[in-house]
Amino acid sequence: MNEHQPIALVGALSAARKATHLYPATHPRYIEAVDALLQESAACLAEGPFTLNVHLGRLYHGSQVLTSEAPGVRSITETLESHRIESLTLHDGFARQDAQALIEVLGLRATQTLEIADELEGRGVTTVTVSALVDEDAQSAEERDRMRQQDHALYNRLIGVMRTLTQRIQESGQPAVGDAGVIVEGILARMMEDSAAVLGLATMTGNSESSLFHSINTMIYSLILGIGLDLPEEGLTTLGISALLHDIGKVAFDMNDPGEAEKAHFLHPKIGAEVLSRLPEQDRTPMLVAYEHHMGRDGSGFPERDADYVTHPYSRIVAIADRYDRLTTPLPEGLGHTPDQAVMQLLRDTLTTLDQTLTRMFVKQLGVFPVGCVVRLSDQSVGIVCGMTDDTLRPRVRVMYDPTGLAIDTPKDLALNESDLEIAETVDPESLQVRISDHL
Ligand SMILES: [Fe+2]
Ligand SMILES: [Fe+2]
Repeated sequence: MNEHQPIALVGALSAARKATHLYPATHPRYIEAVDALLQESAACLAEGPFTLNVHLGRLYHGSQVLTSEAPGVRSITETLESHRIESLTLHDGFARQDAQALIEVLGLRATQTLEIADELEGRGVTTVTVSALVDEDAQSAEERDRMRQQDHALYNRLIGVMRTLTQRIQESGQPAVGDAGVIVEGILARMMEDSAAVLGLATMTGNSESSLFHSINTMIYSLILGIGLDLPEEGLTTLGISALLHDIGKVAFDMNDPGEAEKAHFLHPKIGAEVLSRLPEQDRTPMLVAYEHHMGRDGSGFPERDADYVTHPYSRIVAIADRYDRLTTPLPEGLGHTPDQAVMQLLRDTLTTLDQTLTRMFVKQLGVFPVGCVVRLSDQSVGIVCGMTDDTLRPRVRVMYDPTGLAIDTPKDLALNESDLEIAETVDPESLQVRISDHL
């Protein structure tokens, strides 16, 4: 079969479908259109069953993309998509009554309940089969949306708890860690179920209360590393609380005043440690982490200390998480790096400030293309990394734009390790004009 044959068949199918709308079944034009369809299908069927596939808005026969410029291709693609049909196959014996039934059924208005397969069967057609895989996708997309809403609600609740906790410290100078524990446990439980979903949450940023978002995100990244290190649950809780409160010393300053904000930058570790030293709990780790999280491995950073001063491992973990969140937070609050750029920067930072082993472990946990990376795939479609697979170069990607650049209504998750596609490049999310966190 030459490559024009499938296009000719689709053209004839589209023309016949139009004819059913325009003429009665006895009209010569209608009969002519069905004749043409039978002629083209006979040519295609000479080599066995003939299948058309729809994938991401394109029509395929085998690996051949049928150009949407050709007559009828676009309209048949849209018709099949609207009926949630992923593939349509004509079999040997496809005769006039089958052709008439097929074009009649394809002309029916698509609804949630209309099933093309049932309609064909009802008309006694056995030489046309359809498969409707898309339905499953819609279901899983619905389920995903539901989980996403729940996760965002959880995150917002945690922001609320963090807000109250911060206010209480501002008013009384007295921290109450009970609430912080609630936040950590909420996130930890969800992280054990689906760490990629929680990493997606960490792409959230707030314009007005950026410090609250920063605390929660730093906690999420610290816990991801803590889990990678196989810390026991108690250790994770302590690490999470420490990360959540690492910048608590900033509550003593008016961060909207540039002069105050600069003072806060250098003084918040000391003040934070002071506040946290008043914690009734025995555990001194949160205090230490607040004090040490800006201390570089090479002696840089602050507060000043002796050359042989050794920082707590949790301080080193929080320093990495803190740095990663700051790098990936959009300008002007953060440094506006894409996740993959931030990973490269972290690795560079291990030459000076960051702990090498812990940073490498963190990068391993995040992958080469961390959750939230916007990527262009080898077929030119564009998506957002939404999870990891065993292959660090082939993560899971939520495909948002088809190869022609059109937004996809119900984005599909694609595990690249199970696909022929690969990542061609990372894309600046600015160019997409979307908030990543709205899609994860
Ligand atoms: Fe800090
Ligand atoms: Fe920080």
